[in-house]
Amino acid sequence: MSSTVLIASNRGPVSFTLSDDGGLTMRRGGGGLVSGLSEVVKDTDVLWVCAALSDGDRGAVRHAPGGRLDRAFETGPIRMLDIPPAVFHRAYNAVANSTLWFVNHLLYNTPFSPEFGTRFRREWESYRTYNGAFALALAEEAAHRARVMVQDYHLTLTPAMLRVERPDLRIAHFSHTPWAPPEYFALLPEDVVAEVLTGILGADHAGFLTARWARAFMDCCETLLGARADHAARTVTYEGRTTRIGVHPLGVNGEALLARAGEPDVESHMTVIRDLVGDRKLIVRIDRTELSKNIVRGLRAYQEFLAAHPEWHGRVVHLAFAYPSRHDLPEYREYTAAVQRCAKEIEDEYATEDWDPLILNVNDDYPRSLAAYRLADVLLVNPIRDGMNLVAKEGPILSPRCALVLSREAGAAAELGADSLLVNPYDVSGTAAALHEALTLPEQERLTRGLRLREAATALPPQRWFEDQLAALI
Ligand code: F6P
Repeated sequence: MSSTVLIASNRGPVSFTLSDDGGLTMRRGGGGLVSGLSEVVKDTDVLWVCAALSDGDRGAVRHAPGGRLDRAFETGPIRMLDIPPAVFHRAYNAVANSTLWFVNHLLYNTPFSPEFGTRFRREWESYRTYNGAFALALAEEAAHRARVMVQDYHLTLTPAMLRVERPDLRIAHFSHTPWAPPEYFALLPEDVVAEVLTGILGADHAGFLTARWARAFMDCCETLLGARADHAARTVTYEGRTTRIGVHPLGVNGEALLARAGEPDVESHMTVIRDLVGDRKLIVRIDRTELSKNIVRGLRAYQEFLAAHPEWHGRVVHLAFAYPSRHDLPEYREYTAAVQRCAKEIEDEYATEDWDPLILNVNDDYPRSLAAYRLADVLLVNPIRDGMNLVAKEGPILSPRCALVLSREAGAAAELGADSLLVNPYDVSGTAAALHEALTLPEQERLTRGLRLREAATALPPQRWFEDQLAALI
């Protein structure tokens, strides 16, 4: 019992890979949540509790006393939980990623899914066990009245479980995803709905990326749980306890990003991209290959744009980086294949000997992504639904004259909408028209909008975003 500030998240700041000779290699964990928080806890005493995600992680934990990877990394101390692989798989893949993620991003193809039968019940039991393991570890590690920052949809039950173990603690929960409206959230079985909502309400402070997601959560509490939601005061009261609701629109540390993007590895990727693209205009997108990112409709929109505007043939290139994600799930593997099929179709239809209209790359390469941002004339961000979308914020920082085509369903639209070309993510023709408008936007207009986009994107950098939430835990 020693830490005064603790973070809990499924994915941790580091991960390990097991090599053939049994050795372990360490690298940084990936994803928006991890990169934001890693920056915040750099060289601090904040204890980060996370799950072992792979055999490599489990190998590292087994060599570490109490699962504590202390002081070995600039992230500060880490405690990795060695949850049995089958339990972890059901909690992470089946419940968190295939159920809660799908509900909150409105991803179900409802004639076929979801289906909540006995199999789901076993998965749900594992989700409880997994959340319980976090609650127990946090209860063991937290000092009296410590502040515990629980992250995301993987850990919705942990706040209430932790409160039972340690009523002295000050607990926050933060959702990095959107939140579904009550009629969609109610696809979940009634008892599961109640457990998720009361799980989060176990926290003193429940944070969201936008007012829209916060409102949806409060609506769910009111409609599906019978809690009292005070929208003006942003509180939810249930069974005598009140949880404060916070809106914390995570932004980007502009200086750090600009410095990283000025490094030589990024410069050399820029040279490679310039050689490929020549003096043509560049439309860029950068995403995880994620169902909610709407990559296929984005490519279809580009295809429609090319069909409608032959004058652009040979004068524009679309660079689409769609790096791998959640490949344990069949839907994600199929989606990657669909993205590749669509790209091939565009190539077959339009490529000529000296013009490649589309360059699709499905490998992760951070410096190359930074290089693409810097060269972009247009950035396409068209998710079906997204908690925030930091790509939309990073782009304008690195390319001040880049026009942003942005889905109205991305959390970032709340701050960036006025200076973007907003699109309905399902409207392929509308997106095609927006791509054309973005390419032809006058230079001065690009710069004026770019300046305002950059300001909005850097308004709440991770450090302040985190401090505000700590301060909210009075
Ligand atoms: O949007 C929620 C989130 O946790 C992001 O912060 C992160 O980029 C993404 O999901 C990563 O998911 P996973 O850990 O499953 O790769």
